[in-house]
Amino acid sequence: MLLCARYGEDSDLLSLLSLSFPGNGSVPVNHRDASSGNTALHLACANNHPAAVRLLLGRPGAEHLPNGAGNYPLHWAAANGLPEIARLLLGAFPDLDVLAQNEFGKSCLTEAFSANNAGESKENTELLRMLLEHKSAEEEKIITGIKGMTKEEVRVPEDMREAAISTTHVFELKPDEPGSTLSVREQVMQNADSPFTTASQDDTTGLAIWAASLVCGRWLASLPREALSGRTVLELGAGCGVPALAVARHHAAKRVCATDLNEDSLENCRHNIGLLPPKCAKAEAFRMDWADEATWPEEKIDAIIGADLVYTPEIVPLLTAAMDGLAAPGCDFYYVAPDAGRAGLADFIAAVKEGGGWEVVEERAAPEEMAGNPLASGDDDLMILHFNELLEKRFVLYHFRKLAN
Ligand SMILES: C[S@@+](CC[C@H](N)C(=O)[O-])C[C@H]1O[C@@H](n2cnc3c(N)ncnc32)[C@H](O)[C@@H]1O
Repeated sequence: MLLCARYGEDSDLLSLLSLSFPGNGSVPVNHRDASSGNTALHLACANNHPAAVRLLLGRPGAEHLPNGAGNYPLHWAAANGLPEIARLLLGAFPDLDVLAQNEFGKSCLTEAFSANNAGESKENTELLRMLLEHKSAEEEKIITGIKGMTKEEVRVPEDMREAAISTTHVFELKPDEPGSTLSVREQVMQNADSPFTTASQDDTTGLAIWAASLVCGRWLASLPREALSGRTVLELGAGCGVPALAVARHHAAKRVCATDLNEDSLENCRHNIGLLPPKCAKAEAFRMDWADEATWPEEKIDAIIGADLVYTPEIVPLLTAAMDGLAAPGCDFYYVAPDAGRAGLADFIAAVKEGGGWEVVEERAAPEEMAGNPLASGDDDLMILHFNELLEKRFVLYHFRKLAN
């Protein structure tokens, strides 16, 4: 069984696993080899045999056990840079600990950092993201060195870590202007499993690029030039700032402001503004909290833009108050959100429509060309990896206009 797992001899492995022994039942799937303590799962994982891994994981009682040197199967998948295997293990053992150390003090995460080309190839970036986003690898635990991982250990591969937790995408949001690309960096969110559960001030959802913002960026880029020329445009809850960046890149706006509550997201957004090519509209990023009027800019805004801002009903009155407080008469409001899966979205749209201050200019499903692959490379695998909501969800474009009084 161990050798079949080692060499990926899947049909023989299946036959062996299906044997039953008189008296003591089925094959002991967790059997360890006498010299190293490896299980069949270690060997299938280390040698990148996903089908064998699936067969083993499918057996009742299969466990994720350490070998004689304290290495778990995930250590080997990590050390060999194998995201597919790691995904199978993380899926089968949700309580697995990616910071568990072997007897050399190396965790699965450290192994992934040290793997060849860590953070450089697509596979390794995916592997590192997966491990860093796992609930057992919360930022705080890594940084404070809980479980014996020292700050130094985390800091040594800082450049790799940077490459792993952040990705700079090159988008082409305006297909009729080939070559007019937009580079935007996103980072790994905390609580990625349930990003919408944190209080506003701890909300790290803006570190990631949400698919709605790509649809919004494309929509805004496609507007006729006169729609935003010479106007002051402000993005609410900008996060990485794709819509604001798209306006700065493709329109002669007077001023483009990307605003957010979260300082880390703002810092990332400033970095993205720095990536804009020369000769774009003047863009800046600053802190604005919908709940705190003192943080709102004094200048009245001609066009407010936003993507995927509502995910809890409590946000709705804050957001509508901020919109009303910012908007100049005739101000346009361009908003994009997925059509399902966002608590409070229907309340938000109803509040804007029925509040008396805004008229509906347009409300329609995003056309197909706005929800396709926005990457300049056209790489569909990368799109699925980073922006799978583009495939899974439908998006709605909302355009409102502020009434004169
Ligand atoms: C789901 S993210 C969307 C980010 C970006 N619009 C996108 O689509 O990629 C929601 C954003 O709203 C911001 N946010 C949440 N509450 C806020 C508040 N009270 N004031 C300002 N921004 C807030 C978050 O920091 C986060 O950047």
